[in-house]
Amino acid sequence: MGATIQITEEKLAKLYAVMDENKKKPGPLMPTLHEAQKIFGCVPLEVQKVISKELGESIAKINGVVTFYGQFSIEPKGKNIISVCLGTACYVRGSQGILDAFSDELKVKVGETSEDGMFTVEATRCIGACGLAPVFTVNETVYGNASVAKAKEVLKGIQ
Ligand code: FES
Repeated sequence: MGATIQITEEKLAKLYAVMDENKKKPGPLMPTLHEAQKIFGCVPLEVQKVISKELGESIAKINGVVTFYGQFSIEPKGKNIISVCLGTACYVRGSQGILDAFSDELKVKVGETSEDGMFTVEATRCIGACGLAPVFTVNETVYGNASVAKAKEVLKGIQ
């Protein structure tokens, strides 16, 4: 469990406005989830319920989509998002060890957020930077030719 999420009236109003627009087009669910993720920073059950009612989709389906795609999350993400690529090129060059190092150092399981809401550690698929494998990202910054030592060094810089 990380930071708590606030579902304010203002944010809900935004979500309703987005759904009104999306309902005019075919396939309103995905664009609505994208916006919901942006508005709330995640798509928790309370938000899924609102979407379910408004778009007439079952919660089971919505929850399935949210948990399947990496760009959505049920819990709020941390202030810093660390993603380690586990695509083939990175994996064969030891990215699993880097992911484990982040997870150990921060005491956060992969896919979860630290208690203080500072860090989310996740694994991603290929991010298209295979030439730099192994690769990890911290927020918008990409670190290539990475190693466990480099991961620790970067982490020290942020902490
Ligand atoms: S496999 Fe990691 S960037 Fe492509």
